[in-house]
Amino acid sequence: MKITKAVIPSAGLGTRFLPVTKSMPKEMLPIIDKPVIHYVVEEAIESGIDDIIFVTGRNKRSIEDYFDESPELEMHLKDRHKDDLLKMVQDISSMVDIHYIRQKEPRGLGDAILTARKHISGDPFAVLLGDDIIVNGKPCTQQLIEIHEKYGRSAIAVEDVPQDKVSSYGIIKGTPLDGSLYSIEDIVEKPEPADAPSNIGAIGRYVFTPEIFDCIEKTTAGVGGEVQLTDGIRMLNDIQNVYAYRFTGRRYDTGDKLGYVKAIIDFAMRNEGMGEQVRKYLEEVLSPESTEIRSPRSGKCSCDE
Ligand code: UTP
Repeated sequence: MKITKAVIPSAGLGTRFLPVTKSMPKEMLPIIDKPVIHYVVEEAIESGIDDIIFVTGRNKRSIEDYFDESPELEMHLKDRHKDDLLKMVQDISSMVDIHYIRQKEPRGLGDAILTARKHISGDPFAVLLGDDIIVNGKPCTQQLIEIHEKYGRSAIAVEDVPQDKVSSYGIIKGTPLDGSLYSIEDIVEKPEPADAPSNIGAIGRYVFTPEIFDCIEKTTAGVGGEVQLTDGIRMLNDIQNVYAYRFTGRRYDTGDKLGYVKAIIDFAMRNEGMGEQVRKYLEEVLSPESTEIRSPRSGKCSCDE
């Protein structure tokens, strides 16, 4: 069955990105001139999705506003004959069908996905986390959809994570099949490095058969008191084989400060209008002669700690 629906959970508190996430969703942080979530929605559309369910929470109104029409702004641009900008703004509000569901409390990723159950109504569906950007010619979600089409089962995107970061991920134990594909034997949420079955971690892209909902529902709160998607996947794997796919592409975890900075630098360097100037600037500040930026510190931010 063709996958046309996607759930984008974006109700988390974004504590790794405080204080800015106190009043602004991390999904709306800008990568130059587009918010993170815009790239995620683009990936979904390029993968054949035409119906998106955002799971949001308090403080997430700006996501809805971003994808909504903006009559005053459109009128302003129209009156001033700024046709290119007008088209850009209108294109965003007509990108795709979007529905919003509120997760009453941020009780974990598993719980967030469960809130979308009624809308999914028994079909296989994709999940894209709202703070992971993945860049590749063939979108990561489409890569997973193809695995699902071939095997008729759920598929999750994985990548190698540094050993000291395994305790931040769902880590799989898998049997390699062909090339980048694994059959999952087990999956553990945020293990201690010494107990981790591997360093292959699940990242923010999934395709699920609808049976995942029953599994999440039976899951009790796990690590951190949250309903963990990982525990639901493990239960699903007991009744239907779940596949892990080492996706092709570059992933930016923009919910993490360093991941966000990497995304900004890479996107700025690739930007048509200013890429060359950015590259020149970086060469300048990184040259051995340049001491201006590196010392002494001219300002302090919370990432210095
Ligand atoms: P994260 O753990 O990365 O998000 O969850 P978080 O909790 O917002 O961030 P930190 O760790 O406190 O900085 C992965 C995804 O799941 C969503 C988040 O919005 C993010 O896209 N999520 C998480 C929910 O929608 N609801 C939740 O209860 C938890």
